[in-house]
Amino acid sequence: MSTADYKTMTTAEIREDFLKFFESKGCKLCPSSSLVPDDPSLLLANAGMNQFKEYYQGSKTMKEIGACSCQKCLRTNDIDNIGDARHLSFFEMLGNFSFGGYTKADAIAWAYEFITSPEHLGLPKDRLYMTVFENDEEAIELWHAQGVDYDHISRLGEEDNFWAAGPTGPCGPCSEIYFDQGEEFGCGSPDCAPGCDCDRYLEFWNLVFTQYDRQEDGSMPELPHRNIDTGMGLERIAAIMQHKGTNYDGDLLQSLIGVGEKLSGHEYGTDAAKDRSLRILADHSRAVTFMIGDGILPGNEGRGYILRRLLRRAVYHARLMNIQSPFLSTYVDEVTRLMGDNYPALVEQNALIQGIVRAEEERFGATLDAGESMLETECAKLAEGAVLPGEVAFKLHDTYGFPIDLTREICEAAGHEVDMEGFDACMTEQKERARAAANRDAWSNFNDVWTGLSDKLAATEFCGYDADAADGCRVVAIVAREAEADEAHAGDEVSVVLDQTPFYAEMGGQCGDTGYLTDGGSLKVRVSDTKGKNGLYAHVATVEEGTLRVGDVVTAAVDHGRRELIRRNHTATHLLDAALKQVLGEHVSQAGSFVGPDRLRFDFTHFEAMTADELARVEGLVNAEIFAAEPIVTRVMGLDEAKASGAVALFGEKYGETVRVVSTGDSDAPFSRELCGGTHARNTADLGLFKIVSESSVGSNARRIEAVTSMGAIEHLDEQLELLAGVAHELKCRPADAAERVASLNHELRDTRKKLEAVTTGAGSDKVAEAFRSAVQLDGYKAVVARLDGLSGKDMRSAWDGIRDAAEGEPVACVIASATPDGKVALLAGATDAAVASGFKAGDIVKNIASLVGGRGGGRPNMAQAGGSDVSGIDAALDAARKELGL
Ligand code: SER
Repeated sequence: MSTADYKTMTTAEIREDFLKFFESKGCKLCPSSSLVPDDPSLLLANAGMNQFKEYYQGSKTMKEIGACSCQKCLRTNDIDNIGDARHLSFFEMLGNFSFGGYTKADAIAWAYEFITSPEHLGLPKDRLYMTVFENDEEAIELWHAQGVDYDHISRLGEEDNFWAAGPTGPCGPCSEIYFDQGEEFGCGSPDCAPGCDCDRYLEFWNLVFTQYDRQEDGSMPELPHRNIDTGMGLERIAAIMQHKGTNYDGDLLQSLIGVGEKLSGHEYGTDAAKDRSLRILADHSRAVTFMIGDGILPGNEGRGYILRRLLRRAVYHARLMNIQSPFLSTYVDEVTRLMGDNYPALVEQNALIQGIVRAEEERFGATLDAGESMLETECAKLAEGAVLPGEVAFKLHDTYGFPIDLTREICEAAGHEVDMEGFDACMTEQKERARAAANRDAWSNFNDVWTGLSDKLAATEFCGYDADAADGCRVVAIVAREAEADEAHAGDEVSVVLDQTPFYAEMGGQCGDTGYLTDGGSLKVRVSDTKGKNGLYAHVATVEEGTLRVGDVVTAAVDHGRRELIRRNHTATHLLDAALKQVLGEHVSQAGSFVGPDRLRFDFTHFEAMTADELARVEGLVNAEIFAAEPIVTRVMGLDEAKASGAVALFGEKYGETVRVVSTGDSDAPFSRELCGGTHARNTADLGLFKIVSESSVGSNARRIEAVTSMGAIEHLDEQLELLAGVAHELKCRPADAAERVASLNHELRDTRKKLEAVTTGAGSDKVAEAFRSAVQLDGYKAVVARLDGLSGKDMRSAWDGIRDAAEGEPVACVIASATPDGKVALLAGATDAAVASGFKAGDIVKNIASLVGGRGGGRPNMAQAGGSDVSGIDAALDAARKELGL
């Protein structure tokens, strides 16, 4: 490319210059929003305009004439394409926006000024081309008014020049700006022009004139005002400003490609397949870093799945490049170094990002090992060019978690296609099996009686938030033995539906209530559980006394003490959730819970085991909130208002129009604020005390905490103290000294082990084995007479044990002597009972030879020991023993 006719700028310079330029025009500089959009219709931020949707729709206004930003975006429509020289998953988009503030004319004039003015990009005018939407004469004239020749302006259809962020929402016709890279980049076709698929004309800036609001039914009413939404891919314009042909040649991505070059030893630009892997690594590692930085965790659905796919694809390509694991952390560091100044989340969340990539990389490395070897075996079975059966690909996916796109990639490299139809069929079958199983479960205790009842009865009204008992509850249905009944008698087991009830039905993790239904007379019905069935509350009950009839009016009283415990544990899950977010980070989100009277269980997303310190901090935060005695405030409000107040909602959970918001205290920034339908303590102080009982893993990136409050916490502490008392009793010390006592016992044990090892596995045991080999067969037993220097008096016993073991139950006897480590002599004679019976007398031998080593001793016929002081007499002593035995 000719480089002489315009200047060079770095990515950082372009970013800064663009934002300053539009600020100087009166636009409000807005930071990039998170990659996780605050918009359920969108999976990931894919354009600068996402964060301004409500301004376009007119429900929000700003005092400035418009806005500008540099937005992190992620587009993964076609992950398989990423790796070619053009496509990126993550990219930065420079944009300026107007919501009825400045006009289309302004937008066009400013865009032209920015790209052509020597103070800014200063691109040569003759290399710039504009496209407009079909019959947008206005845009043509506006460009022409800037001095653009008509033959540099062309019309394109809806596919190119109509822009929408998604299937619904703000959209409109657009006008694109192209840079002519020169004829040498072209396809040579006489029709080659902006919009052609070849590389000659590079589209780098899209000016959208957002004026419609597309609805679900496809209709497009006008937005309240005419808007502007422009987007310029920063990587694209950086490549142009650096006189480079492709996105990946710009300074920023080149630095990341450099990481791969260093790790793999491969020089970029020398091998097409390896270059592709280097681009994939550069792109995916950057995307992964940003995604986790914005709180996305690897998972099997939605964003989590996209993240996992990108991360795994990177790990796979690193393997192709022979890059040793773990390598992703090196990329994370480089991305953070390059971009952390502009995106502080990368720096703030560094520990989280590193932790997650490490864990996923490890896990997937193991999967790859297993899957790859299975796939290799399968491919080897195939004839050349044969198709890999869909069932095999499915088994890899299902059993080994081996991603289908990798299976395809590996097979392709080995010259095999994958039978995708077969694979899809297996997937569908599996889904159907799962659905059928789920239905069976759901319907097994929700049979036709209940569907019929829920059709004809109004939903049960719950009146138990404040009170635990209610008078005037009417029995509207009784179900006995899976059928509707008019009445039930003492001894009958039934499910009872009331028009209103203070009994909480098992829901949202909180267990069902127990208690009694009475009528002030003889009726007594014991409720052992409460379950929700299509809006009806089924009191699972036994009639203890009297007769219960449909139409009866009863008093429903929840077991107060049990309910109080449940209330406290439910509030504790909220405090725990908030504390975990504070200690571990905002990525923590509830993944399931169980709230019972005696304990609570809370599952949440996190990538590694919590440390003792983290657990202590979480416990401390929760207890501090308990001791702060904050009242629990519950308000019913609209869902939008609740979300705006920062209430924690469960991802993917469906909420009604109005929701209950449960907060600790009434301040604007409470310790905890959550959407919740459960029953709660009145004040955090009711919880008394909070103790974590365990923390464990429940699947990848999910942890579980079990905890107790109030009476449960006291019981837990009592149990712990009892345990400690038991330990102290065994150790015969005071509980306070137990740790020290155990430490000293451990020390002693270690010493003893070491010595024992020396005897049984070290030089000692070798000597023993050797001595045994020299055994001489006597009448009725084998005799070993040997010198085993280096053993102490104590060790001699082990040596005898060793000799006896070596004899494997045969009669054996020994006379052994050692020059001990402290310069003395140890003698030992030992014999099995059979050897004694054959005449061996250990005591006598030792007694007779001890004097030769300056000692004295003796013992029983089967075991005798002596010590001595004269090492020089050892051999003579052993000779004497031999003589005595007739050897
Ligand atoms: N939203 C348009 C795009 O992404 C312009 O910003 O291309």
